[in-house]
Amino acid sequence: MCGIVGYIGTQQAAPLIVSGLKRLEYRGYDSAGVCIISDSGLRIEKKAGRVAALEKFVDIDSLSGTVGVGHTRWATHGLPNDVNAHPHTDQSGSIALVHNGIIENYVTIKKKLLNAGYTFRSETDSEVLAVFIGMLYDQLNDVELAVRTALSEVEGTFGLVVVSTHEPDMIIAARRGSPLILGIGNGEYLVASDAAAVIAHTRQVVYLNENEMAILRRDGFTTKTIENVKTRSVVEEVSFELEQIEKGGFEHFMLKEIFEQPTTFHDGFRGRLQIEEGTVRLGGLTSVVDKLRAAKRIIITACGTSWHAALVGEYLIEHLARVPVEVEYASEFRYRNPIINSDDIVIAISQSGETADTLAAIREAQLKGATVLGMVNVVGSTIARETDAGVYLHAGPEIGVASTKAFTSQLCVLTQFALYLGRMRALSAEQGREIARELALIPEHIRTILRGADEVRRIAHEYSSVSNFLYLGRGFNFPAALEGALKLKEISYIHAEGYPAAEMKHGPIALIDDNMPVIFIAPKDEIYEKVLTNIQEVRARSGKVIAIADEEDEYIASIANHVIRIPRTLPMLTPILASIPLQLLAYYIAVERGCNVDMPRNLAKSVTVE
Ligand code: AGP
Ligand code: GLU
Repeated sequence: MCGIVGYIGTQQAAPLIVSGLKRLEYRGYDSAGVCIISDSGLRIEKKAGRVAALEKFVDIDSLSGTVGVGHTRWATHGLPNDVNAHPHTDQSGSIALVHNGIIENYVTIKKKLLNAGYTFRSETDSEVLAVFIGMLYDQLNDVELAVRTALSEVEGTFGLVVVSTHEPDMIIAARRGSPLILGIGNGEYLVASDAAAVIAHTRQVVYLNENEMAILRRDGFTTKTIENVKTRSVVEEVSFELEQIEKGGFEHFMLKEIFEQPTTFHDGFRGRLQIEEGTVRLGGLTSVVDKLRAAKRIIITACGTSWHAALVGEYLIEHLARVPVEVEYASEFRYRNPIINSDDIVIAISQSGETADTLAAIREAQLKGATVLGMVNVVGSTIARETDAGVYLHAGPEIGVASTKAFTSQLCVLTQFALYLGRMRALSAEQGREIARELALIPEHIRTILRGADEVRRIAHEYSSVSNFLYLGRGFNFPAALEGALKLKEISYIHAEGYPAAEMKHGPIALIDDNMPVIFIAPKDEIYEKVLTNIQEVRARSGKVIAIADEEDEYIASIANHVIRIPRTLPMLTPILASIPLQLLAYYIAVERGCNVDMPRNLAKSVTVE
């Protein structure tokens, strides 16, 4: 997703905006640009590629001015080149904007503008909006009114920031579907798509609501709806520290985040897990306890990695609470006219809390009368605010595009949720205590696995040049296999597939030859013996077996080419532990292949478009 940073104050805007854009680099983008209001008009510089390419191309310090806006683009309409990069201006070159999202009716608006004699430089939908605002300004002679009028006619989504030489001491920000945050300083204001870009300057922020806009001047700001109804804004404090969004000595954010997991996992149950009572206290669900008790069905909706967590959640909740669970891709759910009853609980899982598909799914569920809960990492994000109740993951900012620590925190929260629900129903205190005790040991187990990272690195070295990987697991570990395969695909661009191990013989077995590494997640649980059979089937066809197995499992070493050990825990908790070496394996393979691990090609950290 693109990044936006705007500034109005007394400092030089350009360097401040560029350093903010760098903090947003993790979100994924293909070009960058800035616009500063200078004495001689708007100074716009933009370039395809990284923010560093922009800095190389232009001396940022030479852009003088205390009001400006910057953007990192994630192309939806038009190639990622210099011309299509934002900011875009109106025809007169006196109004500039940066835009995150999609103007869905841009073709209609563009036609009208072309008929009226306006011309366009780029292929973007965003430029159409800029030219449209310019045309309206010519008629209305008021920048804010022109913006509001334009926004009342556009369909689609926007995080938008507008600056203009007509009103050089003002910034306008507006949102629909894409997040925007105001950073409140002393005589200065920032606007950004993510708190990471403002935290070096201020911890006081205002989260703009849907369909809300803000007018920022040096001496204050106002918020209103796009329909011009004044709104009250609440200033909140950002909950994370600057160090949390820096690499802290690690080569990549992803590696740092993998190694943070003993702490982040612990943060996910700290203050919640009641070991002696064998239960969990989830403050964020107090308001919906009765609904949870009465729930006949739970639907979990999510995308990508969060969807994999949801699948583990299905196994956990059905196992511990005996409530039927359905898991749906949010992107399918929203368009399927799903059957939802008022006593259904819908849970949305999301790291970013901004995923457009997930957001649309919860709105659909709410419309149909379900109680909607969020399991979200980013505090104050749209999904966190739009759900009826929820549980935060507390994994801290996740910068690497490939989700790692947020995934294990999702499993941490889902396990607790299942336990909580189970204890409301048939689960005894003794059963609850055993699960709580084992969950509390997980951070130490993760530490043990991380101490073995070098062994995983050696295996990665051996397999870094293959073209395909299979990941197999059963029961609780089937979703862990899917997630392992996704991690590898995302960052190393190696084709990888996850399957339930027993499904292999129904098709994928045809792929196996001596070039095919197959990863088996094979902890000693009730289906261990069956997995051993599947391993033999791969061996019989000369496939290479990498097994993730219990510490004390000696037998497996005699049939696998490599064994990665995980400490013994309850079967339901093994996907958490199995995920750690799979993250490491993907990471080391991608590094061996020279890939950009933190910002893999084509991917964005949060996908705020359909
Ligand atoms: C994770 O590695 C992916 N980049 C992606 O699949 C992600 O999990 C998905 O887009 C959902 O994001 P969310 O959790 O922020 O909603
Ligand atoms: N739709 C716009 C474009 O393609 C904005 C994309 C973005 O969010 O970066 O330029």
